[in-house]
Amino acid sequence: MSPAALKRAAAARAVELVEDGMRLGLGTGSTATLFVELLGEKVRAGLSVVGVPTSEATRSAAQAAGIPLTTLDDTPELDLTIDGADEIDPQLRLIKGGGGALLREKIVAAASRRMVVIVDGAKRVETLGRFPLPIEVVPFGLGATTRAVAAAIGAAGCDGPLTLRRGADGAPFLTDGGHLILDAGLARIPDPEALARALVAVPGVVEHGLFIGLATGAIVAEAADGQPRIV
Ligand code: 5RP
Repeated sequence: MSPAALKRAAAARAVELVEDGMRLGLGTGSTATLFVELLGEKVRAGLSVVGVPTSEATRSAAQAAGIPLTTLDDTPELDLTIDGADEIDPQLRLIKGGGGALLREKIVAAASRRMVVIVDGAKRVETLGRFPLPIEVVPFGLGATTRAVAAAIGAAGCDGPLTLRRGADGAPFLTDGGHLILDAGLARIPDPEALARALVAVPGVVEHGLFIGLATGAIVAEAADGQPRIV
């Protein structure tokens, strides 16, 4: 069974959590986009919700799906955020930001009473770190910030290369906020809380992709006898 089919199964189950009148955070990535598309079907059938998109890409997808949008200025508290993840561990700690939307994703998740993560089973890990950890930094002072990030990573008991993310054209990838992303190939993050504390203390770091204490639930789709199974 393809990852796309599993992602769709997780997204479809998440749509069942949405109730009339809810204020929703709309995540970013291929799984979250499937959720947005399926939610759009419900909205066109009469469901009343408003959504805050976590990226310009999701804004476009939500508009195309006919989902009414709002902002955290007009709607500072959300009922439920549905978002994907790059990794999830047994404590519902996440690595996010593979799509570069980690900053808005974290702001929206923090403004939500509940955050439910939708993933295929391949995203489950015992220890976070196999997926390179995205670290969003301001362009000013990139060389110095990169050195300080490397030191913070070492102080938190991790090790591995930092790579400036680039787009398909080879130019540095720019986030929706106009920032850069350093991807940290750490392999294992033995103490995610310590690493999170060390990274936010570095001037120039805007945000990092460790989501700790934000997810309240997860919908994980795995293949069983050729059918998606939610675990
Ligand atoms: C974007 C994210 C995504 O949720 C994450 O990359 C998972 O994406 P996908 O659903 O395409 O596998 O954090 O910043």
